[in-house]
Amino acid sequence: MKEIVPSPPPLVHNQFESVRELFSKNVVPSYGRFDLVLSHGQGSYLLDVAGKRYLDLGAGIAVCCLGHAHPAITEALVEQSRKLVHVSNLYFTEPQGRLAAELVKRIGPGKCFFANSGAEANEGLFKLARKFGHDEGRFEILTAANSFHGRTLAGIAATGQDKVKKGFEPMTPGFRHIPFNDLAAARNALSPATVAILIEGVQGEGGITPATPEYLLGLRALCDEKKILLFMDGVQCGHYRTGKFQSFQRILESVGQASSLSGTNRQDACSTFLPDGVSMAKSLGGGFPIGAFWVRAPFADLLGPGTHATTFGGTPLACAVALKVLEVIERERLDENARKLGEWFKQELERLATNYPQVVKRARGLGFMLGLELVEKERIPKLAASDKTAALQFVNRLHQLGVMTIPAGTQIVRLLPPLNLKPQEAGEGIARIEEVVKSVS
Ligand SMILES: Cc1ncc(COP(=O)(O)O)c(C=O)c1O
Repeated sequence: MKEIVPSPPPLVHNQFESVRELFSKNVVPSYGRFDLVLSHGQGSYLLDVAGKRYLDLGAGIAVCCLGHAHPAITEALVEQSRKLVHVSNLYFTEPQGRLAAELVKRIGPGKCFFANSGAEANEGLFKLARKFGHDEGRFEILTAANSFHGRTLAGIAATGQDKVKKGFEPMTPGFRHIPFNDLAAARNALSPATVAILIEGVQGEGGITPATPEYLLGLRALCDEKKILLFMDGVQCGHYRTGKFQSFQRILESVGQASSLSGTNRQDACSTFLPDGVSMAKSLGGGFPIGAFWVRAPFADLLGPGTHATTFGGTPLACAVALKVLEVIERERLDENARKLGEWFKQELERLATNYPQVVKRARGLGFMLGLELVEKERIPKLAASDKTAALQFVNRLHQLGVMTIPAGTQIVRLLPPLNLKPQEAGEGIARIEEVVKSVS
């Protein structure tokens, strides 16, 4: 098409220093950023403004599940934006209804509410719990130590990590933390005001810790007994990252299959297990912002007209992209890729732990939600002197070799690759990780 109005000159000339300066002058410095200025991407690779290529094993913190610049996402964006971008939730639109039906199909009988982020999806679940317990005066939500549920005021109150709360006290009331994977502690922590329990199927920010099947089944039974809602935060561990749509489906699958480990009742419980609410975001839009929560059928109409809303929730554009992402994952069997290549990746990380015990403590995780746990910084002489955590120094060294990963806590290097990562890319990632391990051992 002929350009009628000439494009304005680029605001910045893709220079590292000029972009940095724009940030230091104009952007609130609430993020600790790496010294990288990224310009574009293709598949599993990103390029910085100097043209250096990086294998992206972080995928924008578990967001870019189809990698970068996927043509199906571009096409969905272009096609839908030609028709309808936004109309508000005063009206019905087909993509939102279709996306809700796809999510219900993958989780279980219930309904969905659409938001814009993970924190906002969790906020919706908190309001649902408050509404559920309101007439009985129940409002308290238990969450796990080391959990992460977002950065809004309720999100940081729900998050079981002091570092996100510091400086923002007093905390929003109504949240208490319990040790993760400890059923007895959950039972002991209940109070007459408790209305819900919220956990991640695999703790992400807390360091890649999966819930045990016993914990999930036990919490379900406890919540049924005490008429408490059981919520799962699937924002990071959901959307096929573990090899199943939701991580609880993956975690319980192995128990259901191991019949020698379980009686018939337990097998039934595994196949029929459903939480009462699931929050989603991140990979849901493959990079386009969208969040959602699913609520189980008996509670699906608790939030009636006028009780909860957000202007941008479930726009036709966001939902069309999310539908396309699901279609591609299903067509290309990326769930299987996450499961199989993830298993290979984990075995390789375990090999590093065996071969370099002076640097690597263990491998953690499920599918494409993996962690390389380093030993304490003080025990790695080449990392001990720096005031940066071992995880941060490791991630920085990987950047130098052209690989992106994400630190979690002080000692864990997180791998959250695109679900369509290729075997040779996984091999490249492991080779570079081993290089860094060797260089510090
Ligand atoms: C488990 C979990 N819940 C909630 C959130 C918050 O999501 P968002 O950053 O989209 O608000 C995150 C973000 O990392 C997360 O990992």
